Amino acid sequence: MLKDIFMGLSQNQFLNSTAKKYGLKLGAQSVVAGTNIPEVIKSIKELNAHGISCTVDNLGEFVFKEEEATAAKEQILKVIEAIQENKVDAHISLKPTQVGLDIDYQFCLNNVREIVDRAHRYDIFVNIDMEDFKHLEPTFNLLDDLSLEYTNVGTVIQSYFHKAQEYLERYKNFRIRLVKGAYKESEEIAYQDKSDIDENFIKITEWHLLNGKFTSIATHDHRIINHIKEFVKKHDIPNDKFEFQMLYGFRKEMQLQLASEGYNFCTYVPFGNDWYGYFMRRLAERPQNLNLVAKQVFNK
Ligand code: FDA
Repeated sequence: MLKDIFMGLSQNQFLNSTAKKYGLKLGAQSVVAGTNIPEVIKSIKELNAHGISCTVDNLGEFVFKEEEATAAKEQILKVIEAIQENKVDAHISLKPTQVGLDIDYQFCLNNVREIVDRAHRYDIFVNIDMEDFKHLEPTFNLLDDLSLEYTNVGTVIQSYFHKAQEYLERYKNFRIRLVKGAYKESEEIAYQDKSDIDENFIKITEWHLLNGKFTSIATHDHRIINHIKEFVKKHDIPNDKFEFQMLYGFRKEMQLQLASEGYNFCTYVPFGNDWYGYFMRRLAERPQNLNLVAKQVFNK
């Protein structure tokens, strides 16, 4: 019920555009690392100091105009330059719709190519985040096209899809982030029960650890993390074949703990004015995250 309410709010374009004007509000500052590049670089440096690498997401939703997509691309290019100049341990995560996938495929491909090309110059990886099912095949097409020229690019596979294993086998030679999936999808294409989604997450993660190039295990679920720790030990999977990932601001102690145990750890660091949809999806996933909001409101 609450999940559906927050998911609905995340898709409200009016609220999305209104929120942009007011800076980080409602507790979003706990999970969004600032609104500009100097602020995000500062956050990355703090995480790097604990041995944690970062993947940076310049937040953006509902981009249907070329000038907005071009502005987003320019901002991501600036982030890449800032990563290089500041010599921080970070790479890029981007959403294809933010750089034009809902406008025109070729226009979007050109934008992503420019980003991947600039990142390639500095040996920086670019992850193409996965959005809802409507964008899944076009996103895979971007990866297919870019991989003809570049190796510093990968994507995300969502375990809620019935066909997750099939997608994974298709992209086993890529650096892949595995997630459960954050969008509302129909039962024809996606598991609805948490236990099925979790089971599939473990299944595809084990498969990719054994057969894939590099696995980013992106979950806050300690049960799954503990299971994977045992699995890699049992199968002698070296640390340089995988990493754990979590979102900025969530389970901070566990993030530090995993890094201090010697696992590669990467924090997903979102920043920018367009925080509203991202924040609402996090509340939809876990209404307990409302605690974050309460803390911000009452700790003034
Ligand atoms: P889930 O919400 O299933 O919770 C499982 C259990 O973990 C809970 O019952 C609780 O015990 C514990 N737990 C979870 N969060 C906690 C918290 N904050 N504090 C304490 N305990 C907690 N999705 C997508 O569709 N496309 C994408 O590209 C990405 N990218 C992405 C990157 C990264 C780095 C992450 C971590 C996640 C994504 N996601 C995503 C989101 C993903 O699909 C998923 O919706 C969320 O990670 C929520 O699922 P979890 O497995 O983290 O925990």
